[in-house]
Amino acid sequence: MCGIIGIIGKAPVAPLLLEALKRLEYRGYDSAGIATLVNGRIERRRAEGKLVNLDHRLAEEPLGGTIGIGHTRWATHGKPSERNAHPIATSRVAVVHNGIIENFQVLKDELVAEGRRFDSDTDTEVVAQLLTSYLEAKMSPEEAMAKAMGRLRGAFALAVLLSGREDILMGARRGSSLAVGYGDGAMYIGTDALALAPFTKRVSYLRDNDWVVLRLDGCKIYQGHTEVTREIRDSGLSGEMTGKGNHQHYMLKEIHEQPAVIGDTLQSYIDPATRAVRLPELPFDWNAVSRVTMTACGTAFYACLVAKYWFEALARLPVEAEVASEFRYREPPLPAGGVCIAVSQSGETVDTLAAMRYAKSQNQTLLSVVNVPESAIARESDAVLPTLAGPEIGVASTKAFTTQLTVLLVAALAAGRARGTVTAAQEEGLTRALIEMPEQVNDVLGREEECRRIAVDILAKARDVLYLGRGSSFPVALEGALKLKEISYIHAEGYAAGEMKHGPIALIDEHVPVVVVAPSDSVFEKTASNFEQVKARGGKLVLLTDAAGAARLGSHAAATIVLPTVDPVVAPILYTVAVQMLAYYAALAKGTDVDQPRNLAKSVTVE
Ligand code: G6P
Repeated sequence: MCGIIGIIGKAPVAPLLLEALKRLEYRGYDSAGIATLVNGRIERRRAEGKLVNLDHRLAEEPLGGTIGIGHTRWATHGKPSERNAHPIATSRVAVVHNGIIENFQVLKDELVAEGRRFDSDTDTEVVAQLLTSYLEAKMSPEEAMAKAMGRLRGAFALAVLLSGREDILMGARRGSSLAVGYGDGAMYIGTDALALAPFTKRVSYLRDNDWVVLRLDGCKIYQGHTEVTREIRDSGLSGEMTGKGNHQHYMLKEIHEQPAVIGDTLQSYIDPATRAVRLPELPFDWNAVSRVTMTACGTAFYACLVAKYWFEALARLPVEAEVASEFRYREPPLPAGGVCIAVSQSGETVDTLAAMRYAKSQNQTLLSVVNVPESAIARESDAVLPTLAGPEIGVASTKAFTTQLTVLLVAALAAGRARGTVTAAQEEGLTRALIEMPEQVNDVLGREEECRRIAVDILAKARDVLYLGRGSSFPVALEGALKLKEISYIHAEGYAAGEMKHGPIALIDEHVPVVVVAPSDSVFEKTASNFEQVKARGGKLVLLTDAAGAARLGSHAAATIVLPTVDPVVAPILYTVAVQMLAYYAALAKGTDVDQPRNLAKSVTVE
């Protein structure tokens, strides 16, 4: 949600800011803007909607200047309009902001009482007005920033441009991510290394409560009034890595990257010589773990739900899996010796972070499965199991999910081995199944045309779609429904197949397609009964199964996708790829914005 970029350089900065904002589009936004200094004065161009509108504004009224800030905004306080688009400015200060200033009303009342007039409905404006008031009281920019940091409550990242000060650009973070980029004769500040990738790979990740002053030749970072140093690292990202390649959408590219990134992820967790699972050293002993609490949001939560089946069955560990936004407020008692596993692609989802902090307060050891190793969730964890999915740009998570599943299965196996509930032979069998996964996923990708046809002929024509699954296929059904609704806007629901009789069956008629996720596993026959119940009521069945399942039920389905026969334990990874393609092609048929669906954000940094 919201993206920040700031540049101090020697070349005209407006086109560069726009380029960086394009890199931040993936986070989700509904308006955008940039501000630069022109002859020392703050000049802004802002537009509601997509960046193309801002581009048009800039074409009508170009903006000069070699220092500036830019923003993509996902509305929180105040509707998405040009007036509320960032940068928010007074005549002295322009600010772009990610997050929420929780005490904005208190600050606003104080500032209004001072006689200041507010021009927007945003919480952000208090930052611009507060800094202006401090500067007017003759504080230096540094003093003003340090003092403002003491007054602002909430989670935020900021970039600040000052009129008359072509020589400095400022930034600050608490909670929301912010990185500094070191260029050649230019300095950058941005939400993440992806935004900075076209300009530089040399980055420092700011920590909570850091604030920074950038100059042409470097920067100084502070905590309070004390200067601090932050390591400069190679982000490993290049501008090209974040492109779409030959694919029409990022989502399709990322679906197709899955064999490679699952392979990369496995390489770091399975010893190729012994085929044994190899986790990094963990600060706890699986034998002493009393309970595992898993928490996450969105698709990452469904990875937790699949993993619950794995940890329970393989490691015989009690597991609770809970959406972070509920878990954090319910204040559940957590037992001594418990481990909390947080799962997140971005590593910055604010509810997941808060849930982890709650678990920490209950003395749980924090383990996280994250795709962004420098993220807040990774940093606050006692141990991290990285997914090696690479940058995921499409808002709908695909390769991050399947690599989360891969890591979580490996972790469940490691736990099972340590606890003596998985034998060496079982471990070998399952690691073999995992090692074969990239090839099997490739095989599923080979069914792309079938998926497209079913999506176009059946799903895209429906108003409602039901997804059913049993056992570890239930979360895959949930994920299939989520994927479809988020990118095609077709109403879809995932249901435990056994629960269908308790409600959804009332919906079934010839207009409601029912996608049944049913590998041949120990519960296949039970799912088959539910399949027949749908059939008997005229439901249009789309069956995802293997050769044996197709032989048993295929003739009753309106369409069947036959997937490779695999160990049922790894089936959720494989079947997910098929539901991703169904959703993608249904969305394509509906003509929606696949990579940036309306109202959605990639990184949800507000509650
Ligand atoms: C948003 C994204 C989802 C993602 C969820 C959790 O809703 O659109 O794709 O699953 O946030 O994000 P995280 O970065 O914590 O995995």
